[in-house]
Amino acid sequence: MKYDSFTPDEMFWRVRIFDALSYPSVIVTPDKTVVGANKKFYDVYGLSPEDILGKKCFHSFLYRDTPCNSDDCPISRVIKNRAAHNYTLKRQYKWEERVFSPIFDDNQEVAFVLSSIRDITRTKSLENQLIGVKEFITRVIYASASAIIAADRSGKIELMNSVAKELFGAYNGAEGTITHTEQLYPPGRAKEIMKMLRDEKIGGRGKLIIPRTTIVNAKGEKIQVEMSAAIIYDEHGNESATMAIYNDLKDKIKVEKQLKLTQKQLAQSEKMASLGQLAAGVAHEINNPLTGILFYASLLLERLDLDEDAKQDLNYIVEDANRCKNIVKSLLVYSRSTDSNKRIVQINEIVEQSLKLIRDQKKFRNIQIRRYLSEEMMLINADTSKLNQVVINLIMNAADAMKGSGRITLHTYKDRPHKKVFLEVKDTGEGIARENLSKIFDPFFTTKEVGKSTGLGLSIVYGIIEEHGGRISVKETGVKGTTFIIEFPLHLPMENGPHFCDPSGPE
Ligand SMILES: Nc1ncnc2c1ncn2[C@@H]1O[C@H](COP(=O)(O)OP(=O)(O)OP(=O)(O)O)[C@@H](O)[C@H]1O
Ligand SMILES: [Mg+2]
Repeated sequence: MKYDSFTPDEMFWRVRIFDALSYPSVIVTPDKTVVGANKKFYDVYGLSPEDILGKKCFHSFLYRDTPCNSDDCPISRVIKNRAAHNYTLKRQYKWEERVFSPIFDDNQEVAFVLSSIRDITRTKSLENQLIGVKEFITRVIYASASAIIAADRSGKIELMNSVAKELFGAYNGAEGTITHTEQLYPPGRAKEIMKMLRDEKIGGRGKLIIPRTTIVNAKGEKIQVEMSAAIIYDEHGNESATMAIYNDLKDKIKVEKQLKLTQKQLAQSEKMASLGQLAAGVAHEINNPLTGILFYASLLLERLDLDEDAKQDLNYIVEDANRCKNIVKSLLVYSRSTDSNKRIVQINEIVEQSLKLIRDQKKFRNIQIRRYLSEEMMLINADTSKLNQVVINLIMNAADAMKGSGRITLHTYKDRPHKKVFLEVKDTGEGIARENLSKIFDPFFTTKEVGKSTGLGLSIVYGIIEEHGGRISVKETGVKGTTFIIEFPLHLPMENGPHFCDPSGPE
C-alpha cells in the first residue's frame, strides 16, 4: 500500500479522522520535517499550515537552527525503538502529556511519527489532590495513639502503624513477624470476629466494637485490648478490606485494680472504725462493773469466816474478772482509746526488741527465725511498746499456723521515693482460708480453740497500725504459708529544714 495510492475518497476520510482528534497532533518525517497537523493543532496554537508544513520541527517549535541531540529527541527515539514513547511536561501552570507514535510503511519502517499533545492539567491536579489526601490519611494513621491495622480480604496485613507494631511486638528487629490477622488472636477467634463483623445485629453491618478482648503478640503473650473493627466496602458494595483499631487496656486494668483495692481498704477501715467505736463503748461500760466485781470479791476473800470452797470460788471469780479486764484493755488498745507514747525510732530496733521478748518461749523451740533487716536508715514515729505488741502478735499467729515447727522470716526495707517503710512477716504455715481473709482483722474472730484465744490479736494490730498512719494487709497466703505486710510513713527529719545531710539515707 503506497500513500499515493489512496483514492481521493480514502484521503478525504483520513484527513477527517485526523482533524476529528481532540488532541493537537502533528505528523513529522524521520528527518524532522513537519508534513501534517490536525485542525485542533492549528486552533489551539493559532498557526496556519504555511507556518509549519514543510519546515523542520526544531525550527518551528523550538526556534533552533540545528536539530536537537538525538538522545533527547523523542522522534529519534521512536524511530530507534520502533515503539511509542511518551512523557509529561509542565509548562507554566499546565501539565501536558506528549505522545509520540510510529507510523510504519509497507516495509515496516517508521515512515512518520505522530506527535500528540494532551492537556492533563486537570488529571494531574486530581492526582496531586489524591496524593495529598493519601499522605494526610497516612499521617493521621501514623500519628494515632491507638494501634491501627488494615488487612486485605484474605486477612493479609497491608498496613500497621507504629503503635500497632509496638503493641504486637512486630517491631524492633522482629518487624514483620505478624503478617496475618489470624496470628493476632487465639485460635478460631479471627473467624469469630469476621462473623460478628458481618452480623447486622452486632454493631451494624460491617462494624464491630468489643470493649474487652484478648489478642496475642509476636511473643505469644496475651494482651487485653478494646477493639473496634470495620469492613471497608468498594463503590459497588463489595468487601475490599478490613481495618481494626486497638487500645491497650493495661493501664485501665491497673487503675481498675487499684480502685478496687482502695475501695476494699476503705470498706475495711470503715468497718474497723465502727467496730472500734463499739469496742470502746463496750469496754468503758464493762470496766466499771468489773472494777466493782474485783473490789468486792477481794474484800470477801479477806473475810476469815469463809470456808476453803467458798474461797476457791472467789478466786475463780477474781481470775475470770482479771481475764475480762485484759480483754477490755485489749479492746481499748484496738479502739485507740489508750495513750500513745511516740518517739522517732529505727524500725529494726523494734523488731530486735520484740524478738528478744519471745526468744526463750517454749513455743519457738522448733521454729527458725530469719531476719532480713535493711541496713538503711528507716526511721518511723512510733510507740515502741505498742509496735512490740504488733510484732509479737504476728509472730505468735505465725507460730500457731505452723503448729510448732517451720520458719518465720522478718524483712524490713524502705521505698524512699514514696516515703514508706515496710515490715513483712512471713511464715511457712497452713495459710488463711479464702473465706476468712475478710474477717481476720475483726475483733473476736478466731479459728482457734475458744477459751484459749480471744480473736483480738489482729484487731489490736490493725488498730495500732492505723494509729501510726500505716496500713496492714495480707500480701500472700496459701499452702506454702502467709506473708503479712505493714507499711509505715517514713520519717524524714530534715524534710523542711536545711539539707546538710539526710539521716534517712540516699534516694
Ligand atoms: N499467720 C497466720 N497464718 C494463718 N492464719 C492466721 C495467721 N494469722 C492470723 N490467722 C488467722 O486469723 C485469725 C485471727 O487472728 P487473731 O490474731 O486476730 O486471733 P487469734 O490468733 O485467733 O487469737 P488471739 O490472737 O486473740 O490469741 C486466727 O484465728 C487465724 O485463723
Ligand atoms: Mg493471734
